[in-house]
Amino acid sequence: MTESNIAISVSNLKMAYKDNKVLTDVNFTVEKGSTFALLGSNGAGKTTIIKILSTLLKADEGEVIVNNFNVTNNSKEVRNAISLTGQSVALDYILTGRENLQMIAKLRNVNHIDIIVNALLKQFDLEDAADKRIATYSGGMCRRLDLAMSLIGNPSIIFLDEPTTGLDPQARIALWDVIKNLTTSGITVLLTTQYLEEADVLADQIAILHKGKIVTQGSAKELKQQLPNAHLKLSFADKENLSAAISLLSKTYDVITNKESLSLSISSKGGVEDISKLLNTICEAKINVVEFSQKLPTLEDVFLDIVNTEEKKVV
Ligand SMILES: Nc1ncnc2c1ncn2[C@@H]1O[C@H](COP(=O)(O)OP(=O)(O)OP(=O)(O)O)[C@@H](O)[C@H]1O
Ligand SMILES: [Mg+2]
Repeated sequence: MTESNIAISVSNLKMAYKDNKVLTDVNFTVEKGSTFALLGSNGAGKTTIIKILSTLLKADEGEVIVNNFNVTNNSKEVRNAISLTGQSVALDYILTGRENLQMIAKLRNVNHIDIIVNALLKQFDLEDAADKRIATYSGGMCRRLDLAMSLIGNPSIIFLDEPTTGLDPQARIALWDVIKNLTTSGITVLLTTQYLEEADVLADQIAILHKGKIVTQGSAKELKQQLPNAHLKLSFADKENLSAAISLLSKTYDVITNKESLSLSISSKGGVEDISKLLNTICEAKINVVEFSQKLPTLEDVFLDIVNTEEKKVV
């Protein structure tokens, strides 16, 4: 990443609320035009980071550069470049969707308000509900409107603090599509989430925040590679077939046997070639397999694995 490519840079960030040391040493950079997910459990410090990056909160220590400006010394310039969609929806419930958008546009001194508002209502699929009061909107519609409001004034960096919390699965997936489209217009997105799946779907880079630090960072693919290989599991009709399979497969594979369930597991990345080679070997030896399944590592496994390892370090 060259310097001109960096939208956000966080170095040695520390923050405590009295005795509660929330951020002990946070470091990360976000590439321009990418989506970066800060993943962490309840109370990990995600909102605290978002507040510091968006100039709402002053850090105890460390350097934070957003859009080439220091958040402490140049907070006005930072504010001009960003928008923030907070963890709880910030809408005026007495107004309609259109009126909420118009209000923000006026506050931000935007020209051609009606053109911009109409375009946003269309982009966020809110045209039909535009002139209804927010009080009648569903959670998903409120979140979409909140996001639409954050785009007014063309921010180059958008902070989304748990954008889909509280939404049902369908509304969550719909919002994912909207968020994915933001980066196609060159906007940098930093979002926080407690959902591993959300980070997996949306983010180019995922950083796991735990006990005040980023304990690991990478693309979803890279994080999944930190785990041991996926496993293939084979179950057999009886002991004879199981024994035959063990002696056949242990020549080539690392075999873990479970005699009680008449099954065995072998470590494999689970590629099509690997699997068909394995099954062919078994078929040729006329061994009777009653069940075959594959366990691929998920981001959830990575998260649990890393968090467990960190917890052991503390003990
Ligand atoms: N204004 C505050 N004063 C004192 N303590 C605070 C304040 N804000 C947050 N905290 C504490 O700091 C820690 C981190 O809070 P933060 O809201 O940043 O976490 P989070 O990762 O956003 O959690 P969640 O997923 O629940 O939103 C928590 O222990 C919280 O209780
Ligand atoms: Mg939070």
